[in-house]
Amino acid sequence: MDTLHLEQRLHHLEQQSLLLEPSATDRLPVQQAVEQYAQAFLEDLPQLPVFVDTPDKGAGLLQSPIEEEGIPVQEALGLLKEQVDTPGINPASGGHMGYIPGGSLYYSGLGDYLAAVTNRYAGIFYSSPGAVRMENMLIRWMAQEIGFPQDTAGNLTSGGSIASLIALVTARDAQNITCRIIPDSVIYCTSHTHHCLDKALRIAGLGECQLRHVPMDAQYRMDPKALQMQLEQDKAKGLKPWLLIASAGTTDVGAVDPLAALADLAQQHGLWYHVDAAYGGFFALSPTGKQKLKGIERADSVVMDPHKGLFIPYGSGAVLIKNSQQLTESHHYQASYMQDTLSVTGEVSPADVSPELSKHFRGLRIWLPLKLHGVAAFRSALEEKLLLAQYTYQKLQGLPGFEVPVAPDLSVVIFRYLPEAAIDANAFNQKLIQAVQKDGRVFLSSTLLDGQFMIRFAILSFRTHKATLDLALEILQEKAKEITASWQEA
Ligand SMILES: Cc1ncc(COP(=O)(O)O)c(C=O)c1O
Repeated sequence: MDTLHLEQRLHHLEQQSLLLEPSATDRLPVQQAVEQYAQAFLEDLPQLPVFVDTPDKGAGLLQSPIEEEGIPVQEALGLLKEQVDTPGINPASGGHMGYIPGGSLYYSGLGDYLAAVTNRYAGIFYSSPGAVRMENMLIRWMAQEIGFPQDTAGNLTSGGSIASLIALVTARDAQNITCRIIPDSVIYCTSHTHHCLDKALRIAGLGECQLRHVPMDAQYRMDPKALQMQLEQDKAKGLKPWLLIASAGTTDVGAVDPLAALADLAQQHGLWYHVDAAYGGFFALSPTGKQKLKGIERADSVVMDPHKGLFIPYGSGAVLIKNSQQLTESHHYQASYMQDTLSVTGEVSPADVSPELSKHFRGLRIWLPLKLHGVAAFRSALEEKLLLAQYTYQKLQGLPGFEVPVAPDLSVVIFRYLPEAAIDANAFNQKLIQAVQKDGRVFLSSTLLDGQFMIRFAILSFRTHKATLDLALEILQEKAKEITASWQEA
């Protein structure tokens, strides 16, 4: 192509690609339509069902394929509303008390919007020193809240699973667990440890370590005496105990393992002590929660999820590692095409302490709500959740037919309905949870506890208050009554 043709072609392509840069006049109506959508969603939220089972489960989205020509914003928002924001669980709702909720703070959404518009590159200090300082400042703030030292290093991740992977890879290298010794290396946790840790162990090449499920007490907390015995037995066999994984809030029942007693054992036996506080960690912000989490400050690594206890939208986990050098040694790499970045030093770069290079500017979605609301509101909301769990536990104990096997350590309340002897309890409770979910006013989820079908309240959304629990308890009684009647008729 000669220069003239090349220039003509470039001019043509430039005109076409300018479509990607709407003018201020073009941006405004789109921005207004999006903001109106968000405002209408928030206004409608208290009345919206928490669970919707549409017949095609969002498949209508596929009727509008990705095409060469764009569509008007109202049409796109219509697809979003009908096909994405309607079917399934509505996690923004205060009625969401299944799995582990969190809600989604509006100011986080604004933070994400700004992060996307400015697109600061938060991976490397040289590229965006402010974004990296913000991330590290948040890590140091979390460290302070759980009693970790100020030189703690860490990373804002997409969630608890990747945060756990970073912690376990660091633990593996710090303990020098190489291929040769993996089969003789022993890891300790309980059968209630979250499955993301099993996944992380496998991804980290540790799947062939020996895994001990330490027995739990009646509250489903790890039994330190049983751990001590197991450690001694394993050492006597010539094995290498190296990693202890405790939970600060299990998913099933919200149990907090005896963190201080486990720290003693970890210290005594030279283990890496990891605490999975993905669910429970931010309760450290509340006075009651701080007491419950005593001992967490003695861990080597902690995972805590802002998209749970800090009410940030999905996509926010955090890992904190006490020894920053160990974290860096496991994740740091250099490449010649990165040489310019080496000239500027300051804070630890997120890319040097995680598997990611390019990453979402995750700090802003956490920093903005913390700065605008102030931390005090978070402390109150978290204290409220702990009290709501106590309230629910007490109320359920007083309801005829309901069995509540464990008092909540944090904000998960597990229970079941005990039907009359002729009816199978597991089948009854399965019907009960299905009826509650179909009703859609609140959303609860279920689990198995020692083979028994259990229903659980996970109270963590900042939008969940006493009235939400009162409604849920009413619905449960109503549905239990209906199911009993239909069972008797059948
Ligand atoms: C105790 C616990 N650990 C880890 C995880 C995994 O976190 P994520 O879903 O953010 O990857 C969860 C998720 O619910 C959890 O409850």
